[in-house]
Amino acid sequence: TDKGPASGLTITITAGPTREPLDPVRYLSNHSSGKMGYALAEAAAALGARVKLISGPVALACPTGVECLEVETAREMHAAAQQLAPESDLFIGCAAVADYRAETAAEHKIKKVEGEDALTLRLVKNPDIIAAVAALPEASRPLVVGFAAETRDVERYARDKLARKGLDMVVANDVSCEGLGFGADDNAAVLLWRAGPRQSSPKGDDLGRDAFPPQPKARLAEAILR
Ligand code: C5P
Repeated sequence: TDKGPASGLTITITAGPTREPLDPVRYLSNHSSGKMGYALAEAAAALGARVKLISGPVALACPTGVECLEVETAREMHAAAQQLAPESDLFIGCAAVADYRAETAAEHKIKKVEGEDALTLRLVKNPDIIAAVAALPEASRPLVVGFAAETRDVERYARDKLARKGLDMVVANDVSCEGLGFGADDNAAVLLWRAGPRQSSPKGDDLGRDAFPPQPKARLAEAILR
């Protein structure tokens, strides 16, 4: 039997949202469904790769043949990524990581205060998981692919992200399109990748580019991996 074009490769993927606790019953999060990351994991396994999926809380089952690791917070996802990335050939950051978390999660449920109409939450930055993977020493650094979900100027932000986070490739998608992106079953994407050496900061002319029209996430996932 054919072992598949990705056999012998280990691929680590992050997926879903993260959940940042405010108190024992509340959290900050976002609308990520995890569908794109799970589609990538499933497609990578079908192509013959050994796949490790680090997932935030989602309503999806772990795909057959994939090793799933469930996490809640960005810091847990960061720790798992730091552990798995050095043993991986490819790292795909598909998770919608919360940029900020509450500086301190309250030990007990936050109560309404009589006569106070406002409540101030102090937020602190979460670690940038994919940037940390991209910054690993060359010998333990996988190929690093990030996602850029934006509501405007998608390609410009994607180019910035590629350079700023030191990524090898960015999958850019417009999440403002009706029926595409967050929560949807379909997605469209533009792939931008570094054509020149990693040390050089990519300008328009040393970037590879490929555009994928709206299609089911499963098909798009396979196209991205290939
Ligand atoms: O900066 P922004 O969140 O738009 O970048 C998106 C890319 O960075 C995605 O690949 C996402 O998984 C990754 N990311 C991350 N850790 C963060 C924030 C984003 O790995 N704290």
